[in-house]
Amino acid sequence: MERILSGIQPSGTIHLGNYIGALRQWVALQEQYDSFFCLVDYHAITVRQDPEQLTYNTYSLVAMYLAVGLDPERVTLFRQSDVSAHTELAWIFNTFAYMGELERMTQYKDKAKQHKKNNNVGLFTYPLLMAADILLYQPKYVPVGEDQKQHIELTRELAERMNNVYGETFTIPEYFAAPQGARIMSLDDPTKKMSKSATSEWGYIALTDTPEVITKKVKKAMTDSGTAVVAGKTTPALTNLLTIYSVLSDKTIQEVEALYQGQGYGKFKQGLAEVIIEYLKPIQVNYATLMSDIPMLQRILQQGAAKAKLIADKTLNDVKAKIGIHP
Ligand code: TYM
Repeated sequence: MERILSGIQPSGTIHLGNYIGALRQWVALQEQYDSFFCLVDYHAITVRQDPEQLTYNTYSLVAMYLAVGLDPERVTLFRQSDVSAHTELAWIFNTFAYMGELERMTQYKDKAKQHKKNNNVGLFTYPLLMAADILLYQPKYVPVGEDQKQHIELTRELAERMNNVYGETFTIPEYFAAPQGARIMSLDDPTKKMSKSATSEWGYIALTDTPEVITKKVKKAMTDSGTAVVAGKTTPALTNLLTIYSVLSDKTIQEVEALYQGQGYGKFKQGLAEVIIEYLKPIQVNYATLMSDIPMLQRILQQGAAKAKLIADKTLNDVKAKIGIHP
């Protein structure tokens, strides 16, 4: 069975962008692939986190992984910090990656601007920890949103570099994009991606938002000039909303356009809010039940870490031996 690996930072709200760009694919792919899904808490601390909140967010994220339909019997769910091979391999990559390569990363450039007062070294070397997360498990595919594509390219580059020097060491992983919605845009600014670190909560819909909040956010969402509900280059805001509608309702964009022909934005937004609310309802029920049993979530993480460790340590030991560091 071919392997996939992906991860999300437990840094707060999980939104529709995370779901459509990543989580939703994972649920579909778990049937066909040996799947490893990580909670990347060492990535999350590149932005200052409240310690108690980080612990809570970690459980909240495992609960969300399960609530959307990942099956812990089938997939390996684990926390990055439980498997020390991640930080060890990341250090080794620090000695193989070039400053120029990391300086080119758009996520770093954005975050450095956003966190001027805490532009820490971890923000800069972040992609190397991500490369370690991936390459330790030798996956064939990495299902992530489009914003992570550049990091996957860097990961491939590093893997090839190491393979050239030391012989076959790493599988070269491929970026795996969602067929639709690999880049969901912010509701209040269709030129920016939907993001949990956005300054305004009007930009995203959290998977845990109540029906009232969802309705308000959709109502307030930006639209384009005009009245017709159509997707296209000149209607980026509507195209984004239509994409969300289409993915969550299992209708094509054309079908949704036809549904609202001649009805204007108000009706469309009302329909979209209903689609989102109905879609999230069962997820929210599952989530609430799962969050009432933290010891069970802890057990799942422990079991996942034990499975992950077996594979990660094997890769790390191979790399260490190749560079001359024997146990
Ligand atoms: P993170 O935690 O920011 O986001 C988690 C996943 O959600 C996707 N995503 C989106 N997809 C579509 N539209 C959006 N607006 C949107 N916003 C976020 C992200 O692409 C991602 O798939 N560096 C990663 C976490 C990471 C990782 C890894 C991923 C660390 N190690 C190893 C894969 C493999 C990140 O910050 O994701």
